[in-house]
Amino acid sequence: MQSIDVPLGPRSYVIHIGNAAPGQLGLAIGSFSPPPSKAIVIYDAEVKLIAEKTAKELGFEPAKVCMIDVPSGEESKSIRYLEYLWKNLLQFGVDRKGIIVAVGGGVIGDLAGFAAATWNRGIRFIQVPTTLLAMVDSSVGGKTGINLPEAKNVIGSFWQPSLVWADIANLATLPTREFRSGLAEVVKYGIILDADFFEYLENHADAILARDTSALTEVIRRSCLLKARVVAEDEWETTGRRAILNYGHTFGHAIESLTEYGTLLHGEAVSIGMSMAGHLAASLQRWPDHSLDQQNQLLERFGLPTRIMAGIQKHLTADRMIQAMMHDKKNTYGKLNLILPNRIGEVQTVSDATIDLVRKTISHHLAL
Ligand code: NAD
Ligand code: GLY
Repeated sequence: MQSIDVPLGPRSYVIHIGNAAPGQLGLAIGSFSPPPSKAIVIYDAEVKLIAEKTAKELGFEPAKVCMIDVPSGEESKSIRYLEYLWKNLLQFGVDRKGIIVAVGGGVIGDLAGFAAATWNRGIRFIQVPTTLLAMVDSSVGGKTGINLPEAKNVIGSFWQPSLVWADIANLATLPTREFRSGLAEVVKYGIILDADFFEYLENHADAILARDTSALTEVIRRSCLLKARVVAEDEWETTGRRAILNYGHTFGHAIESLTEYGTLLHGEAVSIGMSMAGHLAASLQRWPDHSLDQQNQLLERFGLPTRIMAGIQKHLTADRMIQAMMHDKKNTYGKLNLILPNRIGEVQTVSDATIDLVRKTISHHLAL
């Protein structure tokens, strides 16, 4: 497997990416100091087989491994399931040397990571992402948390994992639509930070879509490298640097919330959001039309939407979108702060886009 360091001083850790050989995970955990007293595998019920395989690979005596399944879906990122996990941790007698192993997509990583952050004032945890989105984004960087019924991701903490284990083999059962959704975040990294990577994606789109092992390893490796760099520069999201990871997300989150998180997957909403941010940047003459076309062509090649489909347009009027966007965490002093591209490979926070122009951009995406 390939490895990438996330350099965060005492909170540093390694991301392993590729096809894991038997015994490799146990070897990586074997170097933990102090050694974990027991392992609690918290997993998405949809990936039971992956969780069982992972549990065997930990290298612990069977009596020191507990398994807790959580139903698949965003609803599990809730106070109800957090309490369910806490009660199980109590029942299993998990002490401060225990380690949580999160097996699943971003939902499980965020929930189990927050359980780790809060149990006994914080215990170690390992991310074993099983979706592409989790491998390239949510398992790295230490954002953990749950939702309130009224608002997503509002309760949480920064709590870094001790290890990220991205075994490509675990993607074999991931549905095509979920896989493509993860590719939106991958394209995002190319636009915000790395023109060479963007070109790699253009040149290897077919191999990536075919889930070719070496193309996938490279996609995940380069995405994690870019995310690790940004996280190391702004771990606690205080300087504004980490906010660039939210390219396309201000529009995307508004789309998700107005459609009640039920119609589009996160990556699909972000893909439309990147098209909107790119269009706005072109209207402001911050980057050329041909760069916008290049971005959107790649998104479309990956089977991602760049327009709002007719079926959901009634929820997404420009006024409703703008109202929802005003709740974005990046906004300061009542001003809309947006991440907009200067060119492929570079973005900037912009606070002077007029509401009128934002409205025109949204309407342009509704028009088709
Ligand atoms: P998810 O965890 O809901 O997984 C998507 C679907 O795929 C689920 O139905 C799941 O059961 C299924 N699944 C997972 N792995 C599978 C596999 N190998 N085979 C078959 N099915 C599989 O969604 P996601 O897209 O991974 O993550 C979205 C979540 O991540 C959101 O809650 C979002 O807020 C969060 N997120 C967090 C961060 C962060 O930095 N912490 C970043 C981005 C997103
Ligand atoms: N997903 C955005 C971040 O980790 O900051």
